[in-house]
Amino acid sequence: MDFTKVVNKRHSVRQFTDQAVETDLIKEIVTVAQRTPSWVNSQPWQVYCARGTVLQQIKEAYREADQTGQASQPDLPVMSREEWAPRTQANMKQWRHDIVHHFSSFDEAHTAMSTASNNLYDSPVILFITVPQASPDWSIFDAGAFAQTLMLAATNRGLGSIPTYNSVRFPKILRHFLGIPDTERVLVGISLGYPADQPLNHYHSQRVPLSNVLHFN
Ligand SMILES: Cc1cc2nc3c(=O)[nH]c(=O)nc-3n(C[C@H](O)[C@H](O)[C@H](O)COP(=O)(O)O)c2cc1C
Repeated sequence: MDFTKVVNKRHSVRQFTDQAVETDLIKEIVTVAQRTPSWVNSQPWQVYCARGTVLQQIKEAYREADQTGQASQPDLPVMSREEWAPRTQANMKQWRHDIVHHFSSFDEAHTAMSTASNNLYDSPVILFITVPQASPDWSIFDAGAFAQTLMLAATNRGLGSIPTYNSVRFPKILRHFLGIPDTERVLVGISLGYPADQPLNHYHSQRVPLSNVLHFN
């Protein structure tokens, strides 16, 4: 596929069909992502693939954690919304406004979003990206670039994807089921699969004008 087409086609998919993703396709996508640049070619990323029974067990453990009111304990700290810089807060506010208006009511939007997130988007695969605990912030930068290359490679092969904080709220559960050692920091989960034809997936987020981003002196 043409590069620009791939970039524009990628968007966050929040509902997937139950069609499995072939092992060879997962390997191909991760191989492409490995071409990502990193600080002195340190290649800090690791990818832990959850699917089948193990993914079901992770989903059940997350559901139980939520139902028993356990607090999220992500490896990367989360900042309360009011602490973000005003321009990023404004973008987040706009996103929430847009997605609600994509549905006929706030309740409908809320139900669609929370059902999807409670089920970890029902994707057949989640790839969890980690970097060593002993890493500079630069490794998180590198892993972010790795994640984007991975998602573009997935788009190019007809797959949908979404990176989620939601899937990494309970790293203890992930360590248990996926054998992630304590020496690794769990950053993000990337759900992969074939997009379901659902209203939630028809929403495409907007971007601010170029003049708000690109500065010439
Ligand atoms: C690090 C990261 C974590 C995210 N976590 C979630 C999440 O937990 N739930 C969710 O619905 N979307 C999540 N997203 C998706 C963003 O909402 C989405 O990327 C953004 O709204 C832009 O939309 P687009 O991906 O469709 O272009 C996350 C994105 C990133 C980069």
